Amino acid sequence: MKKIIAVLPGDGVGPEVTQQAVAVLKAIAQNFGHTFIFKQGLIGAVAIAKTGNPYPDETHKLCLTSDAILFGAIGDPKFDNDPTAKVRPEQGLLKMRKALGLFANVRPIFTFENLLSSSPLKEEIIKGTDFIVIRELIGGIYFGKRGRNKTKTAAFDTSEYSRKEIERVTRYAFELAQKRGKKLTVVDKANVLETSRLWRETVQNMEKDFSEVTVNYMFVDNASMQIIKRPSEFDVIVTENMFGDILTDEASVITGSLGMLPSASVGEKTAIYEPIHGSYPKAAGQNKANPIGSILSAAMMLEYSFGLQKEKDAIYSAVEKTLNKGFGTKDLNLKTVLGTKELGKKITDLI
Ligand code: IPM
Ligand code: MN
Repeated sequence: MKKIIAVLPGDGVGPEVTQQAVAVLKAIAQNFGHTFIFKQGLIGAVAIAKTGNPYPDETHKLCLTSDAILFGAIGDPKFDNDPTAKVRPEQGLLKMRKALGLFANVRPIFTFENLLSSSPLKEEIIKGTDFIVIRELIGGIYFGKRGRNKTKTAAFDTSEYSRKEIERVTRYAFELAQKRGKKLTVVDKANVLETSRLWRETVQNMEKDFSEVTVNYMFVDNASMQIIKRPSEFDVIVTENMFGDILTDEASVITGSLGMLPSASVGEKTAIYEPIHGSYPKAAGQNKANPIGSILSAAMMLEYSFGLQKEKDAIYSAVEKTLNKGFGTKDLNLKTVLGTKELGKKITDLI
């Protein structure tokens, strides 16, 4: 199989972890007889520094002409501490998601046997946890009207959803639930928000088309508690953009480290694969960041975009074996602490 992969390393630890994921993909290509062509592009603070634009047109063209996108991370503290900045690195990521029509963000939450004791939660609570959060990605408060009043002393952000937007992401979640444990949890705040009431109404109307899936509705405040109290009872969760952003960071601690988790953003055009951790600026350039989130994102790419199940399994099993031998980056609290490159190399060598 021949595929073109756009590589957008971005900011902070993005370049370091992405490099390890690319090495893993090269090893897969070699062993399974595929040709992967990697093409680099700019995004985020590095793109602002070079072009003034966090998502340059050239990068967009590269994305449109590639078969999948491997993305690192975005964000720079320089911008976080400057509320008056006109352009921000994050705008690049949001523009890319929107321009590619990627309405469903798929974030699997699972555990590895050897990491059960690294989690801040008790082993008996997290054992068997295996659920997927489908976060709506190009609507809601992230993309609604926002602004200030004339005197700039008050501000507003708005959230809007159409029935069509709710249906397409929920259909994706239903279809996934059908293939998995057949349980769908819809997370909202329907006791307060009108958008949430439209979500409930829309999903209720869809239930009849997916009769083998059991649907339950949960308020987001309760969901944030249930995810920590009984994570193993979830199968597929679907929720709006900002609730999904917050709940998946929370859920990531179940795994032992935010650094472990991959994600896929899928929809109309080329899909993006990225670790859910951010740019982690404090660790940037220090060979400390966990590359596994990015490596498993590459594995998701093989499965979701290219349909390469065996190759995906090869990556998961290499990661699992490496962890079982006690190798990990510092965040994982395992026997032997390795750097980003060294851990990446252990995994690549096994492939
Ligand atoms: C994420 C990130 C982004 C988001 C930021 C960097 C804009 O936190 O992918 O979860 O909020 O969507
Ligand atoms: Mn986030």
